[in-house]
Amino acid sequence: MPIDEPIAIFQDLYARARERCAEPDAMVLSTVDADGRPSGRYVLLKEVDARGFSFYTNGGSRKARALTANPHAALTFYWPPDKQVRIEGAIEQVTDAEADAYFATRPRDSQIGAWASAQSTELSSRAQLDQRIDETSRRFDGATVTRPPFWTGFRVIPQSIEFWTRDVARLHERVIFQRADGGGWDRSLLFP
Ligand SMILES: Cc1cc2nc3c(=O)[nH]c(=O)nc-3n(C[C@H](O)[C@H](O)[C@H](O)COP(=O)(O)O)c2cc1C
Repeated sequence: MPIDEPIAIFQDLYARARERCAEPDAMVLSTVDADGRPSGRYVLLKEVDARGFSFYTNGGSRKARALTANPHAALTFYWPPDKQVRIEGAIEQVTDAEADAYFATRPRDSQIGAWASAQSTELSSRAQLDQRIDETSRRFDGATVTRPPFWTGFRVIPQSIEFWTRDVARLHERVIFQRADGGGWDRSLLFP
């Protein structure tokens, strides 16, 4: 699949952010739940390609429940000192093969943590989490930690991508790419 212009611009800015920013992969994921209520949290960008922008999480988490009920999301990056990128689009789940492949690259402690955490549900005490981590460690003792079936990834398929660049006297530059009917992208400038 050829890389589209806004994806290529993103990849170029991302490569530069990786050279200078502490958390270039951190992005705010905004979701809206079944009742129309918004929520935001950071997640880490794991892959970007012509298909979109993917991240991984617990499939039972609050964000995953919102995305299942309403498969649309926004991603927001801030790369100091001067760049913001906003991405909006529909959501798809990554394939089991993709999730397996990424899970296999994670540190063992993170793999065990993925099994042990019932993300976003109430935890009675820190001891409860420690106990679940111990149980999981024993269960996989000496063996490869397989991906929990509830641990998965989501991809935001961009419908719009906006690049904001800080400029003097609030004359910030805003360039927005929006999916055109029949493919391709329309490019426009926005008032700051
Ligand atoms: C910089 C940063 C990166 C994070 N990356 C992830 C991530 O990739 N996946 C994830 O599930 N949670 C990640 N978290 C934790 C989430 O922000 C959040 O606390 C958790 O996923 C539960 O969110 P939810 O209850 O809305 O589902 C990250 C937090 C920070 C501060």
